[in-house]
Amino acid sequence: MFSYTLSLGLALMPFVSAAIIDVQVGAQGLAYSPEAIGANVGDQVVFHFHAKNHTVTQSSFADPCGPLAGGLSSGFMPVPANQTDNLPTFTVEVKDTKPIWVYCAQGAGTAASHCGQGMVFAINCGQDGAPNSFTNFKKSALAVGASLSAAAASASATPAASAAAGYATAAYGDYTIPPAPVPTQVTQAITLGTETWTTTYASYPGSPNPTPAAAEGTVHKVIVGGTGILAFDPLHISAQPRDTIVFEFHQKNHTVTQSSFADPCRKLNVNGTTGFDSGFFPVATDATSFPTWNYTVVDTAPVWAYCRQQTPSSHCGAGMVFAINSDESSGSGRNFAAFQNVAKSLNGTAAAANAPVPTTSTTSTTTTSGATNFKVGGASVTLFIAALIGSLL
Ligand SMILES: *[C@@H]1O[C@H](CO)[C@@H](O)[C@H](O)[C@H]1NC(C)=O
Ligand SMILES: *[C@@H]1O[C@H](CO)[C@@H](O)[C@H](O)[C@H]1NC(C)=O
Ligand SMILES: *[C@@H]1O[C@H](CO)[C@@H](O)[C@H](O)[C@H]1NC(C)=O
Ligand SMILES: *[C@@H]1O[C@H](CO)[C@@H](O)[C@H](O)[C@H]1NC(C)=O
Ligand SMILES: *[C@@H]1O[C@H](CO)[C@@H](O)[C@H](O)[C@H]1NC(C)=O
Ligand SMILES: *[C@@H]1O[C@H](CO)[C@@H](O)[C@H](O)[C@H]1NC(C)=O
Repeated sequence: MFSYTLSLGLALMPFVSAAIIDVQVGAQGLAYSPEAIGANVGDQVVFHFHAKNHTVTQSSFADPCGPLAGGLSSGFMPVPANQTDNLPTFTVEVKDTKPIWVYCAQGAGTAASHCGQGMVFAINCGQDGAPNSFTNFKKSALAVGASLSAAAASASATPAASAAAGYATAAYGDYTIPPAPVPTQVTQAITLGTETWTTTYASYPGSPNPTPAAAEGTVHKVIVGGTGILAFDPLHISAQPRDTIVFEFHQKNHTVTQSSFADPCRKLNVNGTTGFDSGFFPVATDATSFPTWNYTVVDTAPVWAYCRQQTPSSHCGAGMVFAINSDESSGSGRNFAAFQNVAKSLNGTAAAANAPVPTTSTTSTTTTSGATNFKVGGASVTLFIAALIGSLL
């Protein structure tokens, strides 16, 4: 719950000089800090823009994430990730005691909207409990965000709409992220030993045949790290559903963690659905036996992963990334080398919040075994593996 202490009214203190009130923009994630203030007529509110690319744009209580006609706006203030001082500022002089509602216009109208994620601010809003409280204003901004996400999810569920164009942002330097692959729905009868079943699956460009080589799948071994080595070996593999990838952790302290093509060094999290993560496996310099962590492949969608060690510096930024079923053959541009370049160009940081969210194409694949895979932007999150493996053996 939010509340602030109203400063003493102007009438009581007519000769007090105007105050300067500092507000940090994006210093703590997608937020203004403080989120709301009380100010007197004549006060100067100075907004300090931190890294990323935010705005201070006036809206209205009724439409928190839309610009108010004739309202104030700082415009976009891009600030590089490594800049911590000489931050650009924008100053608003308080001319009356009416509420002033503010939002960040980055990503407006899209699922990536900063406002929709709660990046709003107010001057002289109602106290908590009042209809025009900051709490209610922020709630209504979050509702805008929820409806934008829902719209994006349903739009991209249509194959035609998920054929997103490639895109570039400052975060990637000269690099343009190639469009997300568009899967084709394929229905196929599969014969494996004495068993036959029909499966409907999403086929990705350059992806392997979905028929497992054997009911128990193939075991692939991937060495993670080692003395003086910040890499997975092999760098990427082609694997079929039911295959097991045994990650064998060597020297240092690594993880294998699912990410996305456009944001290689951050855990996959699309609308709260997260990918896999092995956790850290510290291995001593003189170790002779090595711990393993297994991942079962569930379909042929490309899976992107990285090591999330940041100490003493980002392993991902040094290129320690891995791919399963990356598209090495169709020329889509979404191959392992391109993925590694994105990781290196971001130097291990998360893609800027101004980067478009990875296309969230959501398809559901049901096989006769009842297994359902849920694909999120080309990566695949298993909701249900055990039954697939169990029911067919
Ligand atoms: C930030 O990084 C860029 C290039 O990576 C460099 O040119 C610039 O000098 C850096 N700025 C600071 C303040 O470190
Ligand atoms: C800042 O964001 C705006 C709107 O998304 C964009 O047009 C602009 O290119 C961005 N600037 C930088 C330097 O990223
Ligand atoms: C994303 O989250 C919103 C709000 O919780 C929900 O309505 C929507 O269905 C979710 N979309 C997906 C693809 O899970
Ligand atoms: C492994 O790395 C993680 C993350 O940096 C750290 O929290 C953990 O203490 C490390 N473990 C060892 C044994 O060094
Ligand atoms: C991973 O799979 C391999 C091969 O099936 C098995 O030998 C190993 O015990 C498994 N490791 C773990 C940690 O489950
Ligand atoms: C990447 O980040 C590290 C710190 O984690 C820094 O030492 C290095 O200079 C950066 N490289 C580039 C190319 O910006």
